[in-house]
Amino acid sequence: MTKYNYAIELGGGQTKIYQKDCGLVLCEPTLVAAEPTSSGYSLLGLGKEAKALMGKTNDEVEVFSPIVNGKINNFEYAQELLEYFFEKVKYKKNSGNIIVLVGCGISNNDKKLYRDLLHKVGFKEVALVPTAVCTCVGAGKNISSTKINMVVNIGGGNVDISVINRNSIIKGATLGIGGRNIDSAIAQTIAYDDGIVIGLATAEILKNEVASLFSNDTLNMEVTGVDVESKVPRSYIINSSDLYPIILPFFDEVLRASEVTITSLPPEISKDIINNGVLFAGGVSQISGLNDYLKKYFRYPSIIVEDGEFTSINGAGKLLDDQELLNRIIENF
Ligand SMILES: Nc1ncnc2c1ncn2[C@@H]1O[C@H](COP(=O)(O)OP(=O)(O)OP(=O)(O)O)[C@@H](O)[C@H]1O
Ligand SMILES: [Mg+2]
Repeated sequence: MTKYNYAIELGGGQTKIYQKDCGLVLCEPTLVAAEPTSSGYSLLGLGKEAKALMGKTNDEVEVFSPIVNGKINNFEYAQELLEYFFEKVKYKKNSGNIIVLVGCGISNNDKKLYRDLLHKVGFKEVALVPTAVCTCVGAGKNISSTKINMVVNIGGGNVDISVINRNSIIKGATLGIGGRNIDSAIAQTIAYDDGIVIGLATAEILKNEVASLFSNDTLNMEVTGVDVESKVPRSYIINSSDLYPIILPFFDEVLRASEVTITSLPPEISKDIINNGVLFAGGVSQISGLNDYLKKYFRYPSIIVEDGEFTSINGAGKLLDDQELLNRIIENF
């Protein structure tokens, strides 16, 4: 039986690495900054450094994620990024075995790419586990019982909806929208309605700290952007009530897709979900007012996990301490 001692979650927003007996050892943006040259690309920054360059470079520089919608979109840069991350956590090549958290709908071809990637980065054994199962474990759910669990993970790039029986996925859906789409919608609407151009990093701060699903929330923040017409920097106060109509359609879509998933299930299964409650996880589940919004508009009971960004990777960490259960999950996937 292989002993796994590392877990990695390559999110569209952030990469998280967990080391057995140490805990979370890295959480950095899944981002690469590169500039085209006559012979290809020259690398300017990885992870946090790439994020710090966002919106601050000339137009030629691209800051992008090599993982898009849960798939490896650019193998070379994904490898470059992971080699950098594992060097940072002082991993000795070919000394460990790793589990990779992936979405439930992943194709066999994409599974192979993840295995190849982690082998190249220096892991002996590489196994894949569904993120949603790890989320349940992280949220303290007993995945060995016959009770059905449902997870709605609202991440940076995707919304992943999964129904779990024992330790495997019986139904799943992925929406190709996530926190990043909210950031873009905020930046675009402010440019269009108020004539101020703000960067995506500022839009993300607005989403995380000012946006709220309480329609009458009174949070606000002063942001500085560039006036569309005069091109002069201008400061401006943004209120949560300005952001509410921008973010609402996103959450309405998440609820609609979750309800469609539940209504498509046989009654014995949906009955369990109604008894257990739907788990909401992922970084965007931390948005202010989600609990109130779900109570008002979602037709099923719900639970918002604590520290939504880290529930899945912490669940994977717990599995590293229960290799028997971990091996059953790997066999079932
Ligand atoms: N308080 C908050 N309110 C709203 N969004 C938040 C908050 N805190 C973090 N986020 C957002 O959560 C997202 C990151 O969440 P998470 O780490 O779960 O995503 P990911 O795993 O990288 O992406 P994915 O699961 O889509 O591949 C980012 O868009 C971030 O801005
Ligand atoms: Mg995620």
